[in-house]
Amino acid sequence: MALSTSSAITLNINGEKHSLPVDHRTTLLDALRERLDLTGTKKGCDQGQCGACTVLIDGRRAVSCLQLAVASEGREITTIEGVAAEGEGLHPVQQAFLDLDGYQCGYCTPGQICSAIAVIEEHAAGWPSAATTDVRPEAGVPELSADEIRERMSGNLCRCGAYVSIVQAVAQAAAAETEGTEAVA
Ligand code: FES
Ligand code: FES
Repeated sequence: MALSTSSAITLNINGEKHSLPVDHRTTLLDALRERLDLTGTKKGCDQGQCGACTVLIDGRRAVSCLQLAVASEGREITTIEGVAAEGEGLHPVQQAFLDLDGYQCGYCTPGQICSAIAVIEEHAAGWPSAATTDVRPEAGVPELSADEIRERMSGNLCRCGAYVSIVQAVAQAAAAETEGTEAVA
């Protein structure tokens, strides 16, 4: 008996269930863009190197070009179309990118914003990065300095070079979220 090369799956995306048949080789990125018309998630390199396709899976960032759609069943997927809470305007990270002009062509922006949302949560949870100088538990949560933001966002490339504004936007969103204040790195 020939093995089947496709399956009917149901994906939970931005709080909505989508049922579709997919070839087992279909990436989550292609399923989003080509099958479900969720084109906010961008395809850059298609090799896991640029971060343009970053989405949140169960709240953690993932490059959707390296994730198979069939392996995404049962997970909570959030794309740029779903980061803002219903009826509450833009997500604070989206607003910060807007306020501080964290984009030029905007191609990398959906992935940058998804990454930044997770970066702020990872930092608030005390996760160290390669830029963290003191990783002892008693050192507590490191300051979210420009160096920390650059390191934590380093998987997201921007060909326009809007990095300075992106770092400022992440810093502002993090400060607004944790302290209710605005700060620029
Ligand atoms: S398109 Fe996925 S990392 Fe570049
Ligand atoms: S704004 Fe153009 S690639 Fe980043």
